[in-house]
Amino acid sequence: MQILDGVLVSGHIKEQIKQDVTDFQAAGGKKPHLAAILVGNNPASEAYVGSKVKHCDELGFDSTLLRFEKDISEAFLIGEVERLNSDDSIDGILVQLPLPDHISGDAVINAISPAKDVDGFHPISLGKMLLGQPTFLPATPYGIMLMLEYYKIDTSGMHCVIIGRSNIVGTPMTILMSRASNPGNATVTMCHSKTKNLKEITKTADMIIAAIGRPKYVTADMVKPGAIIIDVGINRVDDQTKKSGSRLVGDVDFDNVAPLCSYITPVPKGVGLMTICGLMKNTLQAAKRSPSPAVSEGEGGVTK
Ligand code: GUN
Repeated sequence: MQILDGVLVSGHIKEQIKQDVTDFQAAGGKKPHLAAILVGNNPASEAYVGSKVKHCDELGFDSTLLRFEKDISEAFLIGEVERLNSDDSIDGILVQLPLPDHISGDAVINAISPAKDVDGFHPISLGKMLLGQPTFLPATPYGIMLMLEYYKIDTSGMHCVIIGRSNIVGTPMTILMSRASNPGNATVTMCHSKTKNLKEITKTADMIIAAIGRPKYVTADMVKPGAIIIDVGINRVDDQTKKSGSRLVGDVDFDNVAPLCSYITPVPKGVGLMTICGLMKNTLQAAKRSPSPAVSEGEGGVTK
């Protein structure tokens, strides 16, 4: 069993990004500038946005964090997004999700200029991704593809079972893993909360991508020996042995699944760090005024 090490891979990619930023600026380009919007004070969202802003600093990007009270109106928030759309100094815009219930996430995301949609959540970005056209890929699926690419894992012909159908991870992952590229070329099954006989399906998987948002949901009896396990979950659970009283666990029962599989991502220090890489690569591409390649440099997104 080999750990797919988010610290190692993200460190490598961040060094590439830093060099790219330096070269871009030496050639007269601008410093990439990410604007992040955080509404309310959900502790997990605070931590994610804080980490994104910190990474901007580390990589030589500018960042602007706009924080708003949870009772702001949808119209006000859309107005702020539109202001950022027309601000030439801003290259990328992200609105941290989830938003409060009275604000439509779809309406806010639809308001982001596709040219600045570095989260890859806009319908135009997702539509281009579906068609294999160059665009900003959603940050987490992009990060997972970068991880598979780094370890040169050949997924061609594999049965890839994706658990979870969110717009952010599960759904785009099905597209990326089934497209004609490597990583990709997999036979994909998407499972979700209404799937019957989940275990029978996951037992046939060469690769499982768990993005269901439930702690330790994927157990050892669901995994075929030798499978590749990608754990997207970041769940906080009580743990009185920790000073904070809690700890993070993934959607996979790591301790019991890890001995069975060929590769596995840990939580923390796995996919979460790759999401940041995806976002930062998108932001740099936005600063260059050109969308990211559909999968990886040179691969394109041709569908055969
Ligand atoms: N909430 C959970 N994941 C994400 C993400 O990748 N981007 C944004 N904006 N919000 C999220």
